[in-house]
Amino acid sequence: MRTPLLAANWKMNMARRDAKLLVEDLLKEIADVRDRDVAICPPFHLLADVNDIIGSRSNIYLGAQDVYWKDSGAFTGEVSSPMLRDVGCRMVIIGHSERRAMFGETDETCCKKIAAAREHGLIPILCVGESLEQCEAGKTAEVVANQLRGALQGQTFESGNDFVIAYEPIWAIGTGKTDSPENANKTMGILRDTIADMFGERIAQQVRLLYGGSVKPANIAGFMAQRDIDGALVGGASLKADSFSAIVKY
Ligand code: PGA
Repeated sequence: MRTPLLAANWKMNMARRDAKLLVEDLLKEIADVRDRDVAICPPFHLLADVNDIIGSRSNIYLGAQDVYWKDSGAFTGEVSSPMLRDVGCRMVIIGHSERRAMFGETDETCCKKIAAAREHGLIPILCVGESLEQCEAGKTAEVVANQLRGALQGQTFESGNDFVIAYEPIWAIGTGKTDSPENANKTMGILRDTIADMFGERIAQQVRLLYGGSVKPANIAGFMAQRDIDGALVGGASLKADSFSAIVKY
């Protein structure tokens, strides 16, 4: 049985004051939620503040949106896994399509980041997803399976809880368009089969697969009803306590 995981990707949004209010409101709204996990992934400057507010709620994870693969040194502007651990992070998003499209992220860099994150006990949330052209050309399965293999090669896992995969069709991110739950589930099935092929059936049955791309309170239940969808990675709708708490409590 996989515990649902609802993850908030704040992207490059929020000042400290607003962030504190948002997290305080959110925690009140979801105070009784014990049967699912929640991840909050703010930008770097808010991590320590958000960590303080989360406190010891073990089913609420603090996550970062990116990480560099070296531990320390002359890498101006970068943040390392030990630094993320130092401010309380337990998860980190890796390979988001915005980073792939705008900041030169590749399967190779994702692979190095995943290795570094895991070495320091962070759970990577690896993002994969196809573009509109790839989708229209019927290449979705091939694209996402290749991204998965490229980023996870060389890894070994004791448990499927040591990593998370987010499937986010690029054409559905921030556009208001969503994949249909059935279609998303089909792609997630392909991801689970690929994971089984790489790491064995036990790991594939344990790992949580999230859908991402214009998830809202109105559409979350449809996705969560699917067999291979274990949660969501939420951008826009995670910036308000009422909408994200409604998603968490779908
Ligand atoms: P969205 O973003 O929910 O605003 O579409 C999702 C994401 O990019 O993770």
